[in-house]
Amino acid sequence: MTVLPVAVVISGRGSNMEAIARASLGGASRYRVVRVIADRDSAGGLARAAALGIPTSVVPVKQYADRASFDAALATELEASGASLVVLAGFMRILSAEFVQRFEGRLLNIHPSLLPRYKGLDTHARALAAGDTHHGASVHYVTAELDGGPVIMQGRLRLRPSDTPDTVSARVHTLEHIIYPHVCSLIAAGRIECRHGVVYFDGAPLGAPLVEENDAAA
Ligand code: GRF
Repeated sequence: MTVLPVAVVISGRGSNMEAIARASLGGASRYRVVRVIADRDSAGGLARAAALGIPTSVVPVKQYADRASFDAALATELEASGASLVVLAGFMRILSAEFVQRFEGRLLNIHPSLLPRYKGLDTHARALAAGDTHHGASVHYVTAELDGGPVIMQGRLRLRPSDTPDTVSARVHTLEHIIYPHVCSLIAAGRIECRHGVVYFDGAPLGAPLVEENDAAA
């Protein structure tokens, strides 16, 4: 069995990184997290990764004069890690078109909304303010358009009258921790791939995102 080497890129606490890494620890996993890279040494996820025995590195964004030089350093670090799949998980930088092109088809992101709704920031507050009945998170391939790449899988929950942005954030995170490792496993098994901007699932174009429904996400 071949094992897909995965690198996870973070800026913050890294709970998605941890879920992805933990799901790969069983002997049956088809992928393995070989490196966690942060853009700041204050990222809480670095300690989480180290506790799991995963090699970490920091590409400190503040030390680079512009986006192009930071992206080039990050790309070098990723290539050196040997990863075949790059997973952005709470990475708070916009990547250049050159970077995205270089890793096209092997670069994933998770966004806390049901894309194409609510690209950008403050997604939970915006969903609540709009009176949406449902909300969630989307795992997508990254393209040059911010939060605009083809969606692979969504975690979907029903909003409750009592929900606040904080409760929604916690509920969405619970779903994220299910769908992101799941997508990594599907890619590692060769069941999901992206060719020329089109997602294929078991060899056929994916017409609509795969959906994980979980109203109970607490
Ligand atoms: C998640 O909500 C994800 O959707 C967004 O950033 C957050 C990262 O959380 N891109 P964590 O660092 O994985 O806990």
